[in-house]
Amino acid sequence: MVGVNIVVFGKNGQLAKSLRNQANLDANYIPSSKVNFLRPDDVTDFLNSTNPDLVINTSAYTNVVAAENDKKSAYKINVESVERISNFANQKKIHLIHISTELVFDGKKKLPYIESDITNPLNIYGKTKMLGENKVMENCINFAILRTSWLYSHYGENFLMKIFNAASSGKKIFGVTDRFANPTSAFELARIISMVVEKIRGGGNIKGIFHYSGSEPSSRYSFIKVICEVMKDRNIISKYEIAESVSNSISDGVKRPEIATFSNEKIKTLFALKDKTLKHCIEEVIDYL
Ligand SMILES: NC(=O)c1ccc[n+]([C@@H]2O[C@H](COP(=O)([O-])OP(=O)(O)OC[C@H]3O[C@@H](n4cnc5c(N)ncnc54)[C@H](OP(=O)(O)O)[C@@H]3O)[C@@H](O)[C@H]2O)c1
Repeated sequence: MVGVNIVVFGKNGQLAKSLRNQANLDANYIPSSKVNFLRPDDVTDFLNSTNPDLVINTSAYTNVVAAENDKKSAYKINVESVERISNFANQKKIHLIHISTELVFDGKKKLPYIESDITNPLNIYGKTKMLGENKVMENCINFAILRTSWLYSHYGENFLMKIFNAASSGKKIFGVTDRFANPTSAFELARIISMVVEKIRGGGNIKGIFHYSGSEPSSRYSFIKVICEVMKDRNIISKYEIAESVSNSISDGVKRPEIATFSNEKIKTLFALKDKTLKHCIEEVIDYL
């Protein structure tokens, strides 16, 4: 990305790390310790002082459970600061790539969601992410909102790492069979973001919402099963025990859609993408561990 001043908000998050290490995107990665989205004025000041040509926002208040009791912080990070970024992008006529979530939907469609489907989030996190999307769409001329779901990598405390650690210690794992989405490798999403950046750099016009998720709709149970199978194939574990469960029985009190799967057709057509299996993507991540 020579000659383009790219700011990535987020440095230690799994997507930001995947952008840096797996997609090799050369950019100025900004941690919350440098620009704290709880202080939206700092976001504006930082952008005015660094004057980037392109902004990628991977930062978010991502703790879905904590957001229910910390609405103010979730709003500042997922809405107000995003509004500041989009205002700057609009003023300077630069591109903004913003990341969003399947949790903007209520799951009632029961079929894969497309980009133009009506949003109706069921929880605070989803609501703040939807409002953030709205700010980007209202304020920006040049934007790409990439919605994704169930991100995993070997970085941090994501779902794959929780299962990896539980399976490694021989624990019985409970997997919900009545919630569905597409598990998505953060590495793959990072590569897609890189392609979007290349297209923008080449003068391409990319604008709007795009869904990008892994190719296989899964329940948590079937996602866990593939993780454990890969671990067994790699001789990390010799056996595993997964018990089927329903979401009511292990509820954390936060409402989520039952079925929030995505159609990726729009972005697949744009970049002539080929599907990769869930197993293949999990293997790539687990080989880093
Ligand atoms: N994880 C999922 O399953 C999932 C699913 C769908 C969509 N998404 C979306 O994908 C994007 C990336 O998620 P992720 O999984 O990479 O998240 P993550 O690992 O939880 O990382 C969150 C990022 O947000 C930054 N951040 C948190 N509080 C901040 C604050 N007060 N000020 C500035 N930055 C702050 C963190 O900063 P530091 O770099 O300083 O740590 C970190 O880079 C987010 O937009 C998220 O909503 C995630």
